[in-house]
Amino acid sequence: MVGVGLLLLTLGYGSSEAASPFPIVSRACASVFRLLSGPYNKGFMPAELACIEERCRARCPITDIIYNCPKCGGLLDAVYPDPPPAADLRALWLGRRTSNAPLDQSGVWRFREFLPFLPNYDSVVTLREGNTPLLDAPQAARYGGLDRLTFKHQGFNPTGSFKDNGMTCGIAQALRLGKRRVACVSTGNTSASMAAYASAAGLQPIIFIPHGNIAYGKLAQALEYGARTLQVEANFDQILALVRRLAERLDIYLLNSMNPFRIEGQKTIMVEMMEQRDWRPPDWVVLPGGNLGNTSAFGKALREMKAAGLIGRLPRLAVVQAEGSAPFYDLWRAADRSRLNPVVHPQTLATAIKIGDPVSWPKALREVEASHGVVEKVTEQEIADAKAIVGRCGIGCEPASAATLAGIRKLTAAGSIPADADVVAVLTGNVLKDPDYIYRYHTGDLKSPGGTRIEPNYGNRPIIAPNDEAQIAAILDSQLGNTPKQG
Ligand code: F0G
Repeated sequence: MVGVGLLLLTLGYGSSEAASPFPIVSRACASVFRLLSGPYNKGFMPAELACIEERCRARCPITDIIYNCPKCGGLLDAVYPDPPPAADLRALWLGRRTSNAPLDQSGVWRFREFLPFLPNYDSVVTLREGNTPLLDAPQAARYGGLDRLTFKHQGFNPTGSFKDNGMTCGIAQALRLGKRRVACVSTGNTSASMAAYASAAGLQPIIFIPHGNIAYGKLAQALEYGARTLQVEANFDQILALVRRLAERLDIYLLNSMNPFRIEGQKTIMVEMMEQRDWRPPDWVVLPGGNLGNTSAFGKALREMKAAGLIGRLPRLAVVQAEGSAPFYDLWRAADRSRLNPVVHPQTLATAIKIGDPVSWPKALREVEASHGVVEKVTEQEIADAKAIVGRCGIGCEPASAATLAGIRKLTAAGSIPADADVVAVLTGNVLKDPDYIYRYHTGDLKSPGGTRIEPNYGNRPIIAPNDEAQIAAILDSQLGNTPKQG
């Protein structure tokens, strides 16, 4: 099978002029490869946008510039004909790992048969996103009440968060549609990612962020990558409503997560994880929930992988929110799940997930229900301590990501996740995104939005020392026990 993949790779890689979204498939020898026996060798099979609402299910051309269903206002999914056989896909994707073609080196486009919304790949700009590791973390496992825990660390992405997986797709679609300006509202990571990809693609990035409410690492990235940056005196939800109204007037293409192409790219986080696990699904996938695009993407990816025969069963999704910003948790607990009650003034130091009116909640609800998952919420103290533990594993992450470990600890204590469960937690952002939070925690200066001091239970305060050898040795002796003597 690997051989087949390599041969297909040789025949097809980099074939951006091909009319089919599956150039490798369509250019290979039809009489030899079983891969070519399905619908995928019959030329271009159109992808479509489909309304997710059961009562509507309207279909629209994939090139329509819409973020909601024109008939009923529902959210939209990209939908495709059935993919090629699972064994062929696995071999093809594995074979691409040895390729030097930019498209194959991307941890998103390597799996392009799973997101065939483009007619060709001329519009793709890749910064080699994805390709993120699965890391074992024994100390975090113990803290979380598990025998074993693995982190899928999306902070290893080019701009340091999982947003890059989706952004390469959103930008490719913007270019394909001939748009020149792209925009997003962001708690920080989306804007950093969009700024980078838009600039790399020669598009003009415009970002809207809540003034004073995003981590400096993220704001700094947006400025450095050349985005026109508006710090608006409002919260995320208010700004998103505003920008949606402005989009048409300013002819800007919106790249928030209600953009279905972002979701397509984020699906590959799950595809890559399954490949790294030799297609053995874990029992649980745990992730933080903010605007709920990632939950939607993971659920869609898992269902599609199961339908394609790539995995035999669905892992359960556990979505974790910050206590002061937990409308999806409230919805999950409500007797009636047909309407989400927004949190008007969301509060959390994990600013990435400080969102009170998550746009993608209907998709996310569908996915958590389909996977027999759960939704949990955690306190500021729980997030801060869990984050310090992830750090002590030598791994590190930003505050929102640490909600996963805090949630796992709660879910194992409650018996919802057994200690011997096979669990993957997705760390969504890099440790350096929010250094201010880290310094404050370790020095005992971190306060929750309500003003309560967060205890540095796993704090690591720096020591100020004089320029004096004897005194430094004495400090270290008292801190570390006897230092080994030379000679
Ligand atoms: N973790 C991090 C680090 C994030 O930046 C976000 C979202 C999430 C988790 C939540 O993901 O929205 O898909 O549920 N950040 C967005 C932004 C909202 O603007 O950067 P979600």
